[in-house]
Amino acid sequence: MKTIDELLAEGVAGKRVFVRADLNVPLSGTTITDDGRIRAVQPTVEKLAAAGAKVIVASHLGRPKGAPDPAFSLAPAAARLGELIGADVAFATDTVGESARATVAALADGRVAVIENLRFNAGETSKDDAERGAFADQLAELADVYVGDGFGAVHRKHASVFDLPARLPHAAGDLIATEVGVLKKLTEDVARPYAVVLGGSKVSDKLGVIDHLLERADRILIGGGMAYTFLKAQGHEVGSSLLQEDQIPVVLEYLKRAEEKGVEFVLPVDVVVSGQFPDLKTKAPTEHSTVPADAIPAGVMGLDNGPETDKLYASKLADAVTVFWNGPMGVFEHPDYAEGTRAVAQALVDSEGFSVVGGGDSAAAVRILGFDENAFGHISTGGGASLEYLEGKTLPGLAALED
Ligand code: 3PG
Repeated sequence: MKTIDELLAEGVAGKRVFVRADLNVPLSGTTITDDGRIRAVQPTVEKLAAAGAKVIVASHLGRPKGAPDPAFSLAPAAARLGELIGADVAFATDTVGESARATVAALADGRVAVIENLRFNAGETSKDDAERGAFADQLAELADVYVGDGFGAVHRKHASVFDLPARLPHAAGDLIATEVGVLKKLTEDVARPYAVVLGGSKVSDKLGVIDHLLERADRILIGGGMAYTFLKAQGHEVGSSLLQEDQIPVVLEYLKRAEEKGVEFVLPVDVVVSGQFPDLKTKAPTEHSTVPADAIPAGVMGLDNGPETDKLYASKLADAVTVFWNGPMGVFEHPDYAEGTRAVAQALVDSEGFSVVGGGDSAAAVRILGFDENAFGHISTGGGASLEYLEGKTLPGLAALED
């Protein structure tokens, strides 16, 4: 993989450099609630601009249906990028149309433009190679060089991630280089004990990674909505908690394999429950209580780890030398159910081991809960991408950057 520094050494002044970033940031209306992904690509953008390139930043945002949809505009992200780099950032209101072509044509050396959400064009995510290729051809006309730096999207076989680099000289940006370097530490010669904390709502999203980690991790701690499928598999009632009944046989097989392999599988011992899901908009206080995880009453749902679980998980993380964490422990967006997620984040901060927060909701959670990002070994920008890397899959966006 060519690095950005190697690219700069060849000279990029006056060249149109297409930077595939992941600016898929959480928005409340047009307000960005966590700009971590924009800050993550900033060094690459600044390096290229300082070297005199005409920098064209492109990304997806959300999952629009292949046509323009103002709710998913990248305009707020473009404005934030401009604030961060302290320079005007031009914005094209389409992807490969008149606005994009005119914006790029008007771009002076050392200046930056953002083009509109790539997923406003159906070719971006198409499963049809020809349709994707046709969109990649149009994108290629905008640029001379491609830099892949959208780590959060490298697991997607999309036109701008996979097909476009095949059409242009290409290099990996600094963010991708850093992310891959960190993930290697979690997959090659891992320093032990290696503990993994997995949360989030659906166990079905994490099956691949659990399967893979059963061969590699020393401890697997489970929290969030997915924990209830494990508790049910162990024969406990889970009230109206999130449950994927169809996954129970798989989960049972994992618990058995963990025992055979000597992998410690840790489940919540107490949980915070409520009769209803909290209102995340008003964040109005809720009625809730803590109950043992093996005695969840009917009619209530588990929404967070309880305090005994917090202590247990902190103790399991205290002596870990490597920790990977993906997925919140509860509905952290509401103050009544944030404690479990906060406790895991705090345990990682307190640990002397190397801790990696694996993207998506858990990365947003540590920032929203006010933790100092520098207190963690690494906060990944890619949730799905880092999980698929840990599963040992070939990621299209990384394969495409190989020479
Ligand atoms: C993410 O948020 O994980 C990435 O931006 C990829 O988004 P996607 O899951 O919509 O492809």
